[in-house]
Amino acid sequence: MEKGALRPDAFRGKTIVVTGGGTGLGKAMSHYFSTLGANLIISSRKIEVLQATAKELSQLTGNPVLPIACDVRDPVAIEQLIKEGEARFGQIDVLVNNAAGNFISPTERLSANAFSTIIDIVLKGTVNCTLAFGKNWIARKQPAVILNIVTTYATTGSGYVVPSAVSKAGVLAMTRSLAVEWGKYSIRQNAIAPGPFPTKGAWERLLPGELAEEFDFKKRVPLKRVGEHHELANLAAFLISDFAGFINGEVVTIDGGEWLQGAGEFNNLDVLPAEMWDSIENTIRKSNK
Ligand code: HXC
Ligand code: NAP
Repeated sequence: MEKGALRPDAFRGKTIVVTGGGTGLGKAMSHYFSTLGANLIISSRKIEVLQATAKELSQLTGNPVLPIACDVRDPVAIEQLIKEGEARFGQIDVLVNNAAGNFISPTERLSANAFSTIIDIVLKGTVNCTLAFGKNWIARKQPAVILNIVTTYATTGSGYVVPSAVSKAGVLAMTRSLAVEWGKYSIRQNAIAPGPFPTKGAWERLLPGELAEEFDFKKRVPLKRVGEHHELANLAAFLISDFAGFINGEVVTIDGGEWLQGAGEFNNLDVLPAEMWDSIENTIRKSNK
């Protein structure tokens, strides 16, 4: 992990669970948390992927990374993960709800099962984990932190990814609701809304084939680039750290200004050449007289 902002031992003694931690952004966050000394638990459906990532990360950082197969749709498997995690590390301090499923499609092409498949992973999976971890922490009277990875369209909505948008909006509503309800138990929770961060999982399902060239995310972002994994990992580390101890119920957007670019009524005037502005200014000034 390059360019880390926190001091090297910031998470020493802390145990962090990252769902979907074997790949993509989950792996990037796990790598940084492990660099900072955390005991890591990474989980998802594919144990071979998790084992390979765990080996790679623990070799890089020298800190323990425990891979546990756990489908977030299965409450019994989540209970088992908590038991195994506590048996190994004593207690779990942080849950990062990062696991997700998604694909682009016109909504009218979706079967009921296609819609449910995404809701079951993204919304219900996050609910299942939050509920199981939360009940355990409350019973143990243990302060804890939850970080939910959503998307910018959790707030704006978006066509062609409607099951995901519906689910992420639900996760954001839960983040804000439980930030208040569970504040009294010292369980703090926030969300991150990332813009485009290239990962195999997302790009294969959201920009398949030629779409990757036609629909270039870099052009949609005012900073004219996509996100770098270490940028997201640094934000996540800050939000789960004690330095963010008074931040609760917040969603932090990290998208280079992408969603605002789409929202501002006149932002597409960007396409006008500089020399045209003289003639536009003259026309406006004339009509003012
Ligand atoms: C229409 C589709 C479809 C498609 C699947 N289905 N793909 N329908 N168009 N392209 C339908 C199937 O026909 C089936 O419905 C139902 O969805 C379930 O499909 P399965 O393949 O059986 O599901 P499963 O094996 O459980 O796989 C889940 C998955 C898959 C979500 C479809 O993509 C996956 O495992 N994803 C995990 C990783 C991932 O998606 N990462 C990207 C996260 S990016 P029927 O009716 O036929 O039974 C992200 C935000 C990015 O979330 C924002 C970027 C800016
Ligand atoms: P990714 O690599 O495909 O990550 C998704 C992870 O979720 C995988 O590791 C997958 O592992 C796991 N997963 C899927 N279904 C699961 C289930 N039922 N139970 C447990 N784990 C499951 O994609 P990514 O881009 O890194 O996405 C990570 C997070 O960032 C997601 O929440 C996504 O919505 C969010 N996000 C990404 C972007 C982006 O540009 N990349 C933008 C906005 C938001 P298995 O297949 O092994 O289960």
